[in-house]
Amino acid sequence: MCALPTIRDEKYTLTRNVVFVGFMGAGKTTLARRIARNLGLIAIDADTYFSHDVGMGPGAFMQAYGEPAFRAQETAVLRELLSREPAFISCGGGVVETPENRELLRNEFVVYLRVSADEAKARIRNYTNRPLFGDIDQAGSLEARRAPWYEEVADITLETGSRPVVALAETLAAQLVERGVLCPQPK
Ligand code: S3P
Repeated sequence: MCALPTIRDEKYTLTRNVVFVGFMGAGKTTLARRIARNLGLIAIDADTYFSHDVGMGPGAFMQAYGEPAFRAQETAVLRELLSREPAFISCGGGVVETPENRELLRNEFVVYLRVSADEAKARIRNYTNRPLFGDIDQAGSLEARRAPWYEEVADITLETGSRPVVALAETLAAQLVERGVLCPQPK
């Protein structure tokens, strides 16, 4: 086991990718960015990478080419990001829809951010890239359908609820050290 990450200016390394999954609005991107910034490590958001790669966001892409085409491209992006140096990677909420992605995620260290559809609705400000959220009933059934997949691939589950991102990042960092995923850099 590594030492706990208490010294703010200590350098850390990741021994594996840490991949964030969970429903839209769970706060995957925010938490990935926050923990990476605290530790001086890299965070990559799969949807942002996707947007740069194909020249349009997930919402516009789905509208133009449909969800199956989006899912195929999403898998290509996931494969690419997983093949790089270990990083904090936040995924779109539907990444678990594709069996191939679930298979890939089984080999990674996965953090499931659990959020209810109601909480998600209260947190989401921008629906442009979230055409599948729909109304609260649709979101609720989509979240319920995906929940077993999130659980299946997860190594750690964190309840996001109303917990501030700073607290979540600290809890997660301690758990990653305990699991040997996050280590102080050898001097
Ligand atoms: C999706 C979630 C979105 C985005 C796309 C599809 C989904 O990402 O990838 O709209 O199917 O749940 P966020 O989870 O970051 O909102």
